[in-house]
Amino acid sequence: MQLIFATNNKHKIREIASLLDDSYTVIGLGDVDISEDIPEDGETLADNALFKARYVYDRTGMNVFADDTGLEVDELGGAPGVHSARFAGENKDSEANITKLLGLLEGKRNRKARFRTVIALIFNNQEYLFEGTVEGEIIEVRKGKEGFGYDPVFLSEGHEKTFAEIPLSEKNRISHRAQAMRKLINFLTTHHG
Ligand code: IMP
Repeated sequence: MQLIFATNNKHKIREIASLLDDSYTVIGLGDVDISEDIPEDGETLADNALFKARYVYDRTGMNVFADDTGLEVDELGGAPGVHSARFAGENKDSEANITKLLGLLEGKRNRKARFRTVIALIFNNQEYLFEGTVEGEIIEVRKGKEGFGYDPVFLSEGHEKTFAEIPLSEKNRISHRAQAMRKLINFLTTHHG
C-alpha cells in the first residue's frame, strides 16, 4: 500500500520507510507532483498537521500523513510553539532563532521546555492524531554540532548532553518525533500491516 508523507524532507521519508514493513511504500510530495509550499499558519501543531494532510488528500485521494513540531518554553508561555521555524523571521534561520530564544531567557531561572510533534494521518478517509513529547530545559550556551534547529540548546530530562551532542541513533530513541512516529507505525502495523 502506498502512503504519502506530506513532506519534501528525504531524510524524514527514509527514516519512517525504514521502520515500516514491506506492506507499505512511503512516498513524498515530489512523487505526487505537489511542489507548492503548503501553508502552515494554523494556531496549533494539530491544525497545521491536519491542514497539510487534508490538502494532500483532497488532491490525491491517497492515504497520507503530515507532521508538525514545535518547541514550547514555559517561561515564554509556550512560545515559540507553532512558530518555532520562523521565530526570528521568515527565513527560518536556526542560528537567529536560538539567539532570540537565549536573549528572551537571559537571567531567567525557569528554563523548562519541551519539544512536541503532532502527526495527522488520513487513512481510509478517517482522521487520526499521534503525539510525541520530550521534556527538558534550555541551557545558556550552545553545545554540540549534531542535529538541527534548537538542538544545541536543548537538554532532555535526565541527560547531560544536548540533542546536538548525541548521535542521531540516540536522539531517535528518545525524541518527540520518534515517539510520535512509533505511535503512527504501531497503528499502521497493528491495524493494517
Ligand atoms: P517541523 O515541523 O519538523 O518543520 O519543525 C518546525 C521547527 O521546529 C523546525 O524548523 C525547528 O526549528 C524546530 N524543530 C523541529 N524538530 C526539531 C528537533 O528535533 N530539534 C531541534 N529543533 C527542532
